[in-house]
Amino acid sequence: MKTYQEILESVKSIFDQECFVSAPQGLYEPIDYTLRLGGKRIRPVMLLAANQMFGGNEESVRYAAIGIETFHNFTLLHDDLMDKSPIRRGKPTVYRKWNENTAILSGDTMFAMAWRYMLKEPHSNLQEILNTFNETAIGVCEGQQYDMEFETRSDVTIPEYIEMIRLKTAVLLAGALKIGALYASAPADDTDKLYQFGIHLGLAFQLQDDLLDAYGDEKTFGKATGSDIRDNKKTYLYLKALETANDEQRAKLTAHFQSQPEDTTDKVNEVLAIYSTLNIRAQVEQAIDQEFELAKQFLAEIHVDQEQKKPLQTLTQMLLGREK
Ligand code: IPE
Ligand code: IPE
Ligand code: MG
Ligand code: MG
Ligand code: MG
Repeated sequence: MKTYQEILESVKSIFDQECFVSAPQGLYEPIDYTLRLGGKRIRPVMLLAANQMFGGNEESVRYAAIGIETFHNFTLLHDDLMDKSPIRRGKPTVYRKWNENTAILSGDTMFAMAWRYMLKEPHSNLQEILNTFNETAIGVCEGQQYDMEFETRSDVTIPEYIEMIRLKTAVLLAGALKIGALYASAPADDTDKLYQFGIHLGLAFQLQDDLLDAYGDEKTFGKATGSDIRDNKKTYLYLKALETANDEQRAKLTAHFQSQPEDTTDKVNEVLAIYSTLNIRAQVEQAIDQEFELAKQFLAEIHVDQEQKKPLQTLTQMLLGREK
């Protein structure tokens, strides 16, 4: 049994051994740049941890682990273009360092490369594995579309927001776990529990991301803060604020979230000031805690020895206080 830390080391070494450069250089250099910048690697770690939990063999999932991370990194290339984000992992984003067409085409290539990795390892249940991967990919795109549509809508509800983040973020965490479990031929009811664990962990994870976008330290977080406010993203912070605001605050918030000023400094500061008056941070933290609790309950219900759940418990614990 590997610990969480040992699984993370395995993921790092799997990536160190893989080559992402080829010709034409203009296509592959941004891919190598993105995949070598690292990031937290939580999705491949989750895939490996799920596989190990059900007695799988790490060698059989090394390519699925690369595949899931390559897919995740592809979504980041396109997401940064869609969100006009200048910085990721503390470095310029691909569309900024190169150009928009590069982010599109290198991103497309990464999606196809992810498929190539997913297809590499035979399994008697490969059809279900690949189906899980593909449904996950479609889910992420659906979530991203809602995210974009919500920017120009002023009637987004909290349930709609939760469904949007379930799709854009949570299904990928859950899918990574499920693929790991399927490779280990885990029982269906345990696989379902694990999937639900991933969904709630993913919801907590995106709520945290929204919170960090407002209150994170840019150096640690590795991304520019205030960008969700700038982009009129209908985050949980905003929706909770609307719920508790008085008429004057609500009028200010809705006006700001329909505006696109050249200089967003005042907009961001005024919105943050309202959030602060309304104690939004504590309310989001409460929602995050609730999702973590639900996640833990699903993990607890899985029929394997306590010892085998340790890496995923450690991961959960580590994500709980995340600042990046
Ligand atoms: C960023 O994912 C996109 C979200 C779902 C918030 P991560 O926070 O896992 O990014 P990296 O891979 O660690 O950089
Ligand atoms: C993450 O949403 C969803 C995907 C990348 C698919 P965000 O747009 O909030 O992610 P970051 O903050 O740019 O990483
Ligand atoms: Mg983004
Ligand atoms: Mg986005
Ligand atoms: Mg974000």
